[in-house]
Amino acid sequence: MRPTVVLTCSVLFYYLEIVHSRGVHGKQEWPIPYRRFDCRPAADSYCEAMFPFCPTGDRDGRIPYMNNWDVISVFRMQAPVWEFKYGSLLGKMHIMHDAIGFSSAETGRNYTMEWYELFQLGNCTFPHLRRETNNPFWCNQGAACFFEGIDDIHWSENGTLEKVGEISGGQFNEMALWVQDDNQTGIYYETWTVRSDPGPNATVWFDSYDCSQFVHRTYRYLAQQRAKLSSRFQTNYTKIYLYSGEPTYLGDDDSIFREPSAKTLAEDIRKFYHPFRPHQSYMDFVLSLAEAYQKVVEEKSFYLYYNFEYWHLPMKSPYVQITYEEVPLP
Ligand SMILES: *[C@@H]1O[C@H](CO)[C@@H](O)[C@H](O)[C@H]1NC(C)=O
Ligand SMILES: *[C@@H]1O[C@H](CO)[C@@H](O)[C@H](O)[C@H]1NC(C)=O
Ligand SMILES: *[C@@H]1O[C@H](CO)[C@@H](O)[C@H](O)[C@H]1NC(C)=O
Ligand SMILES: *[C@@H]1O[C@H](CO)[C@@H](O)[C@H](O)[C@H]1NC(C)=O
Ligand SMILES: *[C@@H]1O[C@H](CO)[C@@H](O)[C@H](O)[C@H]1NC(C)=O
Ligand SMILES: *[C@@H]1O[C@H](CO)[C@@H](O)[C@H](O)[C@H]1NC(C)=O
Repeated sequence: MRPTVVLTCSVLFYYLEIVHSRGVHGKQEWPIPYRRFDCRPAADSYCEAMFPFCPTGDRDGRIPYMNNWDVISVFRMQAPVWEFKYGSLLGKMHIMHDAIGFSSAETGRNYTMEWYELFQLGNCTFPHLRRETNNPFWCNQGAACFFEGIDDIHWSENGTLEKVGEISGGQFNEMALWVQDDNQTGIYYETWTVRSDPGPNATVWFDSYDCSQFVHRTYRYLAQQRAKLSSRFQTNYTKIYLYSGEPTYLGDDDSIFREPSAKTLAEDIRKFYHPFRPHQSYMDFVLSLAEAYQKVVEEKSFYLYYNFEYWHLPMKSPYVQITYEEVPLP
C-alpha cells in the first residue's frame, strides 16, 4: 500500500471509533454487532508475526477469474490445530481450524481460502502491556487468505476434506468480490463468544469473529446465490465461550486510558490482563485459558475487548468452555 492510502485509512478508522463510543448505548440490543470499517489500516510495526501471513497468496489479495461456464467444486476443510511438541492434544480438545477449498473443472487447478490471525491466536485474545502505552496494546487483526493448491493430506488425515457442492465460475467470481469486501471491512479477530448460559435459549451478548465464522459467512453467501451445499457428516466447529450476566459498556482507549478520572478502571483492566501471556504458542494459549478460568472463577469478572472498546462481564458458572458443536450447512 502507498503511504497516502495508509494514512487515509488510519484517520478514518480513528474517526469511526470516536463516533461509535458516543453512540447508541442507551437501550442495548444483543448481540452487539461486530463493527465493520471502511478499510483496513496497516498493522502497527510493534506487532510481529511468528509465521508470515498468507505466504503463498497473492500480495494484493487477487483471486483468479473463472470462466462463467466453468464448474467449481466446493470443499469443506477442517484440521486440528497442530503443534509438534504436544502431539494430538489440541486435536483431542477439538481446537480446529476451518477453510474452504475450490477446484476448477476446466483447469484442474484448486485453491484454499481461509481467514485467520495476522499475529497468532494468543495475540488476538490477550493484549500486550507495554511501558510506552497506558492502554493495553492489541495485535488482533485477522484477514482472508486465498492461495493456489489444496494440501489433501493435511486436511484429510486427521480432519475433514469433503466436497459439499458445486457452483458456476460466474458464482465464484461474484463470491471473490464479496470476499475482498468482507476482508477490507472485517479487520479484527475475536476469540470469544459470550452468552448468558449454556442452554438453548441463552442470550448471546457477543459473537466471535474467527476462521469458522468466515466459513459460515461464505456458505451463507453461496446459499443466497442459490448454491446447494450438503454434507454426509455432522458439521461441527470449535467455539470458545464465556458465560456472564448482562455486560456493561466501559469505554475505549481515550475515555479509559487517557482520562484521569477513569484511573481506577484503567488500573483494574491492566491488572486483569497482567497474568496472561500474549507471546504464545497454541499450547501456551490453552494454558492461559486455564489461568483465565482460575481468575474469572475467583473474581467473577472479565474485561472484554470488542469493537476496540471495553466491556465488563459479570461472570457466572460455567465461566469458560471450549465446545465442538454442530452448525449445519445453510
Ligand atoms: C505476538 O505479538 C508479539 C509482539 O508483536 C510478537 O513478538 C510475537 O511473536 C507474537 N506472537 C506470536 C506467537 O507470533
Ligand atoms: C485480506 O487482507 C490481507 C491484509 O491486508 C491481505 O494480505 C490479503 O491478501 C487479503 N485477502 C484477500 C482474499 O483479499
Ligand atoms: C488439488 O490439486 C492437487 C494437485 O493437482 C491434487 O494433488 C489434489 O488432489 C487436489 N485436491 C483436491 C481436493 O482437489
Ligand atoms: C495426524 O495425526 C498423527 C498422530 O497424531 C500425526 O503423527 C500426523 O502428523 C498428523 N497428520 C497431519 C497431516 O497433521
Ligand atoms: C426454549 O424456548 C422454547 C420456545 O420459547 C421453549 O419451548 C423451551 O422450553 C425453552 N427451553 C429451555 C431449556 O428453556
Ligand atoms: C457434534 O455436535 C453435536 C451437536 O452439537 C454433538 O452432539 C456431537 O457430540 C459433536 N460431535 C463431536 C465429535 O464432538
